[in-house]
Amino acid sequence: MKRERLYPDDPAGPFDAPTVEFEDREERTIEIRVYDPDGDEYERLVEMYTEFDPADRAQGIPPGREERIRSWLDTILDSECLNVVAWHGDEAAGHATLVPDEDAYELAIFVLQKYQRAGIGTHLIEALLGHGQASDVEKVWLTVERWNRAAVALYKKIGFETSNAESFELEMALRLN
Ligand SMILES: CC(C)(COP(=O)(O)OP(=O)(O)OC[C@H]1O[C@@H](n2cnc3c(N)ncnc32)[C@H](O)[C@@H]1OP(=O)(O)O)[C@@H](O)C(=O)NCCC(=O)NCCS
Repeated sequence: MKRERLYPDDPAGPFDAPTVEFEDREERTIEIRVYDPDGDEYERLVEMYTEFDPADRAQGIPPGREERIRSWLDTILDSECLNVVAWHGDEAAGHATLVPDEDAYELAIFVLQKYQRAGIGTHLIEALLGHGQASDVEKVWLTVERWNRAAVALYKKIGFETSNAESFELEMALRLN
């Protein structure tokens, strides 16, 4: 039997919608924008994920080979999904996505290794959730491996609550609207 996912009663946020610009902890100017399918942002994301350290893969994503990166990106950059990208000049430093399922959206977030621990992940997830709030998304969930301390800390800080802790993956949930 399928288990009902539990969501917090109260909405998190409010979160500011992109575009958002800030200086990270390494004094780099970072701009977070909604993904633009026209132009070369797609190729910049392929470059980011080709450079992504396989040791930081979460539940098998991003895939390793360029061909598989492209087919994975084709799925999550679909117009039904919500995508935001953190830019350092024209280099993609991070990317976060909300992918719809039956009645909610599944979240995933990736920050390129050389940009981690500088506050970009926090701004990126806030901007994604701001985009979600502005787009009337009501419920967001995700799964995360419990040993992924950086991600679990980030999600808790934003307001995600654990909705299922029965396996090695935690399921976490957040209400947006
Ligand atoms: C999780 C991830 C997106 C965080 O991005 P980031 O830019 O490093 O995040 P921030 O610098 O904003 O840090 C956010 C919080 O995470 C925690 N954190 C970050 N790196 C950490 C680390 N290596 N160990 C423990 N906690 C860490 C801190 O609590 C931090 O909050 P603080 O800055 O207020 O102290 C990034 O580590 C990443 O891309 N990891 C690989 C992919 C992944 O696991 N994605 C999540 C699963 S889909």
